[in-house]
Amino acid sequence: LPTPFRVPLPIPPVPAPARHPDYPDADFHDLTDRVAHPEIVPGTRTEIWGAEGLFPGPTLVSRRGRRTVVRRRNELPVPTVNHLHGGHVPAASDGFPTDLVYPAGTGAMAGIPGMPGMPHDPLAATSVGYRDYDYPMDQRAATLWYHDHRMGFTAPDVWRGLAGFHLVHDDEEDALGLPRGDRDIPLMICDRSFGEDGSFRYPALDPTLLATPGVQSSFMDGVLGDVVLVNGAPWPVLEVSACRYRFRLLNASNARRYRLVLDPPPPGGGGLVQIGSDGGLLPRPVAHDALEIAPAERFDVVVDFSRYRAGDEITVRNAFGSGGTGAVLRFRVTGPVHDDSRIPDRLSESPGLDPALAEVTRDFRFQSRGGEWRINGELFDPARPLVTPRLGATEIWRFVTDFHHPVHLHLAQFQVLSRNGAAPGPYDAGWKDTLDLQPAEAAEVIVRFTGYRGRFVLHCHNLEHEDMAMMATVTVV
Ligand code: C2O
Ligand code: CU
Repeated sequence: LPTPFRVPLPIPPVPAPARHPDYPDADFHDLTDRVAHPEIVPGTRTEIWGAEGLFPGPTLVSRRGRRTVVRRRNELPVPTVNHLHGGHVPAASDGFPTDLVYPAGTGAMAGIPGMPGMPHDPLAATSVGYRDYDYPMDQRAATLWYHDHRMGFTAPDVWRGLAGFHLVHDDEEDALGLPRGDRDIPLMICDRSFGEDGSFRYPALDPTLLATPGVQSSFMDGVLGDVVLVNGAPWPVLEVSACRYRFRLLNASNARRYRLVLDPPPPGGGGLVQIGSDGGLLPRPVAHDALEIAPAERFDVVVDFSRYRAGDEITVRNAFGSGGTGAVLRFRVTGPVHDDSRIPDRLSESPGLDPALAEVTRDFRFQSRGGEWRINGELFDPARPLVTPRLGATEIWRFVTDFHHPVHLHLAQFQVLSRNGAAPGPYDAGWKDTLDLQPAEAAEVIVRFTGYRGRFVLHCHNLEHEDMAMMATVTVV
């Protein structure tokens, strides 16, 4: 295992948008998914699959209201599907799990891989070589991320590296004076296991990831690693000035939940000041001593290192882990600097949805049956929607669980109304697209379906559960 706190924190590159004649009004990005062999564990090489051969992929940056088109080329040995997690985008660009992009030059590979016994999807819109994902970016400033979403193989594809950030900025956020530039840092946290030779280890039933999806049966609860990576580096270290930094925390793990704490905490505590959630800025900042973050959730926080002294070392620990998984990364405080950033008391005006306007209440049971992870007793069927909300409708959705399931909805951000019949929890504030549900919990959220009709999905974001078909088609009509 690598030595913790030696490798500097990598910051994924931010490519400048290009122009493309087919999309004269858009910011255009051309990214190629390919195999690469970076040095993740010092002294070894790891085969990864990544956008531009990078893990994490490049950080894309969009402006609210400015269309962004991402061309994703596939030079991998398997089909891909690219999903913009948290994106408010048309169905054709959402990355529906059967909208496969076959590798360039392969023509159509044999059939569409899927769960054994799962019906073929006559509506799949596949392409060969590349696909253009067209994002209107008609949404609030927020920390979005992109990752693979191939039916039956999302978990191993993401494990190999197919994930990156996509940030949205807007004028409201710019006016706040929050830390920015190189003091606005995305942190993608995920766990991995490595073989002796530095390779990623994943217990896939079919190591080619082409035919049979799924993992060995002892991994029903999800695949965990024993090394924590931040931006693709094992337990990295970052030198910080004694001033405010904004960190966009993303849990990109397949199945691991974290309880993040600062060790030592700053005098007086409350060192993690949350300013945003999955769907953008909160109405007001919330100071936390700890943050619990489930797969796919984002927490936007400000840490003020002027509350520490030059020379201090602060470790971000995971109180849910032990040994290697109990540590995440370390900050080393250099000296004081000029800092004119601030955290205003009021961050964002975004009125809540009104439960009185809800026209439907729906129940979703995320529970296993017959040894399979299901929603309302059903396995994923791409061609048959489980629910068909009306475009423009406000709905109340109730989720009930039997195990830890981070519940994720595409297209729409929701607000949590209640948890187990009581007020929402400390990590439920703001607009959310992923809800961390623990075993035998019940939560109620309110959601409004706007913008686009068509096929989207609701699923568990424990990626092994998702691949085992704990997913439902949601067709907006
Ligand atoms: Cu982050 Cu349906 O996915
Ligand atoms: Cu689950």
